[in-house]
Amino acid sequence: MNHETPTAPAHQAKADSPADRPAPVIAISGLSKRYDSGFEALKQIDLEIQRGEIFALLGPNGAGKTTLISIICGLVNATGGSVVVDGHDSVTDYRAARAKIGLVPQELTSDAFETVWNTVRFSRGLFGKPPKDSHIEQVLKALSLWDKRKNKLITLSGGMKRRVLIAKALAHEPEILFLDEPTAGVDVGLRRDMWEVVRELRNSGVTIILTTHYIEEAEEMADRIGVINGGEIVLVREKAALMRQLGSKQLTLHLQTPLASVPPALAHHPLTLAEDGNVLVYTYDASEAGDSDHVSISALINEIEAAGIRFKDLHTKQSSLEDIFVNLVRERP
Ligand SMILES: Nc1ncnc2c1ncn2[C@@H]1O[C@H](COP(=O)(O)OP(=O)(O)OP(=O)(O)O)[C@@H](O)[C@H]1O
Ligand SMILES: [Mg+2]
Repeated sequence: MNHETPTAPAHQAKADSPADRPAPVIAISGLSKRYDSGFEALKQIDLEIQRGEIFALLGPNGAGKTTLISIICGLVNATGGSVVVDGHDSVTDYRAARAKIGLVPQELTSDAFETVWNTVRFSRGLFGKPPKDSHIEQVLKALSLWDKRKNKLITLSGGMKRRVLIAKALAHEPEILFLDEPTAGVDVGLRRDMWEVVRELRNSGVTIILTTHYIEEAEEMADRIGVINGGEIVLVREKAALMRQLGSKQLTLHLQTPLASVPPALAHHPLTLAEDGNVLVYTYDASEAGDSDHVSISALINEIEAAGIRFKDLHTKQSSLEDIFVNLVRERP
């Protein structure tokens, strides 16, 4: 028993039992979409989004990310299934459901000749909310757009225009924010800024769902990650659990002469042969990596050499989210 393990707080222990789990802020069940062309973009999607989390929906081009978001936001009609947003059905109770949601769309569409201030302020009115300039001011300041409030959109850089889209989506004080590829085509520096903005929003209590095909973005931002491919959710997992699962590391030795089997002197190590005995592979847990681990690797290499094995080359590799993503997506063309 590891006495350093902190005792789980009572609320955490409680959340383990399904009956006590808080109601999801979005519940999607059996959701399907067949476009008029006959194309089946979503196939029986079941997904729950928890209040206050950052959920990253990861998937390649054409996977169905925008279609899913568009249905949740009521912009596209589903052909089957249902979406409930904070207790409101997205079809039969559309206005109440939509009012909970802010959407930052994938495509940049705004009136180029309108000012930042008017654009954002007007957006609030679209949701039937009374004007609240103090809120608009707060949003523009949080997104570093305050100095640009009198600028026409056409005079802004691409990254600033994206921030205006976020400001617009936040104008009516939504509890849930969808960001459809928020950092596509955005440079590294600005991408980091956007991540910071998103984190601050989450800290203020907003639930965030973002789509991306940047694995790095999902890895950096998300509490949970869902992978969608070919209109199907192929994986939903806590990021931390996923990263632990991905923690295994491999040391690969390319041998000078192929081996028929692992020598008995090395049999107590988790060693396997690959590529017709030309490669010796050692798999170990990277989560235990540290200075002590380096010692054990060099000790292992000494043992291998002592067993008379000579190698030409040595590599270490850590499996990553990218590996599983590529595998999941490759399996289902
Ligand atoms: N209006 C439409 N009519 C017919 N097919 C459509 C329509 N809109 C999207 N599709 C198809 O549905 C599939 C999913 O598209 P969607 O835009 O949801 O993908 P995505 O995951 O958002 O992709 P990307 O990463 O490129 O944004 C694609 O094959 C697309 O061609
Ligand atoms: Mg899309």
